[in-house]
Amino acid sequence: MATGQLFSRTTQALFYNYKQLPVQRMLDFDFLCRRETPSVAAIINPGSEGFKKLFFGQEEIAIPVHSNVEAACAAHPTADVFINFASSRSAFASSMSALKQQTIRVVAIIAEGVPESDTKQLIAYAKTNNKVIIGPATVGGIQAGAFKIGDTAGTTDNIIQCKLYRPGSVGFVSKSGGMSDELYNTIARVTDGIYEGIAIGGDVFPGSTLSDHVLRFNNIPQVKMIVVLGELDGRDEYSLCFKALKQGKINKPVVGWVESEVQLGHAVEEGKITPIKEVTPPQIPEDLSTAIKGGKVRVPTHIISTISDERGVEQRYAGVPMSTLVEQGYGVGDVVSLLWFKRTLPRYCSRFIEICIMMCADHGPCASGAHNSIATARAGKDLISCLVSGLLTIGPRFGGAIDDAARYFKDAYDRGLPPSEFVEGMKIKGICVPGIGHSVKRGDNRDKRVEILQRYARENFPSVEYMEYAVQVETYTLSKANNLILNIDGVIGSLFLDLLDGTGMFTKQEIDEIVEIGYLNGLFVLARSIGLIGHTFDQKRMKQSLYRHPWEDVLYTK
Ligand code: ACO
Repeated sequence: MATGQLFSRTTQALFYNYKQLPVQRMLDFDFLCRRETPSVAAIINPGSEGFKKLFFGQEEIAIPVHSNVEAACAAHPTADVFINFASSRSAFASSMSALKQQTIRVVAIIAEGVPESDTKQLIAYAKTNNKVIIGPATVGGIQAGAFKIGDTAGTTDNIIQCKLYRPGSVGFVSKSGGMSDELYNTIARVTDGIYEGIAIGGDVFPGSTLSDHVLRFNNIPQVKMIVVLGELDGRDEYSLCFKALKQGKINKPVVGWVESEVQLGHAVEEGKITPIKEVTPPQIPEDLSTAIKGGKVRVPTHIISTISDERGVEQRYAGVPMSTLVEQGYGVGDVVSLLWFKRTLPRYCSRFIEICIMMCADHGPCASGAHNSIATARAGKDLISCLVSGLLTIGPRFGGAIDDAARYFKDAYDRGLPPSEFVEGMKIKGICVPGIGHSVKRGDNRDKRVEILQRYARENFPSVEYMEYAVQVETYTLSKANNLILNIDGVIGSLFLDLLDGTGMFTKQEIDEIVEIGYLNGLFVLARSIGLIGHTFDQKRMKQSLYRHPWEDVLYTK
């Protein structure tokens, strides 16, 4: 057992089994005491490594996390206190491995219910190796103005009230942590305050005893008076009071409280106490969440969201709970309606969205997107890389002309422009008509998907005016060249205008906004992701080797 001071203003601890609150309380105490370095050097969390972000005053700091005691001690050789927040089941093993480290001097064991046989082994090891155990079943201890173990002395308000942010002259030791808080308060009112306070813990066999600490306090020059809080009939109280005092081992005033009444007072030699100059502790900034809860501050939010919410019992899409989606037979088209358009559209609309997704999910390995995903998968890349490399090819020449088709068809139709004038006008501007043209399909070899969508819309939509206008444009362009058919982007773009208009659920302004923002390419992106993921899995399953384009297929030129 150490014979003098256990802690100082530079003492650092390793904290075993991370608990956010006690670690933050230690750091807040450090700040109150104006310590220069945080008292927690590192955290040990079995099985995990990295950092935990905590506050040291106003500053956010990252405290390293180690996965085992040995690694933490090797990385922080000056941290000599081990604060063990392990459960009663693992307290023995972790405390023993800490005691075995050369760098560790003091081990505080917080857990209750550590088997007595385990504690006895720890005590025996600590004794022969000159180490100090505080606990088990303890809140820990505190050296005022210097160092605090875990939750000792409770809240910051209590610490300030008890003036524990600066040293007084009283050495205090008790069994109970809860009662210690009471006594810290009393002592701060009737003396100049605590110098050091230790709760030895409530077990029958504590790692260090009341008398161990009283004898230690006797050797600390700054301690002018000792206060002991014990239990009636506790064996240690007798050994302390009658043995140590009688043998003259203690030469400082001792006040002993047993069961909250003063049972014994003995002043062997009067200590001379010079009055302390009071200092005001700095104010600890309150955590934002606590301050908001207490209605003390208001903070502007940084994100506005209008489509989904996970704060209630159940997650919601545009106000519709998940259970409703399932119980009332909503489909993917309805989810798109809710998250994109913030309303439940009629079934024929959500079915149309689903058909678009089905039609656009894939069209073979030769299209740009599939090609990229396949080459990426064969280069051994992960799913996200394969998907993204495919999605990046989506643009005006591949699946990304839906919005432009809707924009131009809407503008021309709303202005009452005859198809021929529209096409010729685009030609003068040097713009290819979006939604028209195909690299493979021709007037005499139509794209089946376009036909399916047209048929569905003609049978289900109240009106298909925009699509019919696009067909008239196609008739005109086909008279110029056989490849200038209405393509899938064109049919989806024009039909979506009909959908938005035909439901009567969107204002003109809302339709313009949807077209302007460019919602509709999203349908192709969503759909094609399904195919690109499929191509990625397909390649990985077949374990294809790296893709190389053949030399024969390249024209080499200067
Ligand atoms: N409007 C006017 N003329 C066109 C259009 C059009 N939309 N598309 C092609 N042409 C003309 C070209 O100017 C070219 O004329 P030229 O021979 O006098 O030079 C001829 O038709 C061939 O055009 P290419 O660009 O070689 O045709 P390609 O097969 O490479 O392109 C594509 C097909 C990308 C779809 C093209 O028609 C186009 O850009 N269309 C407009 C955008 C569009 O709708 N993209 C849809 C992508 S999704 C999908 O492909 C299904």
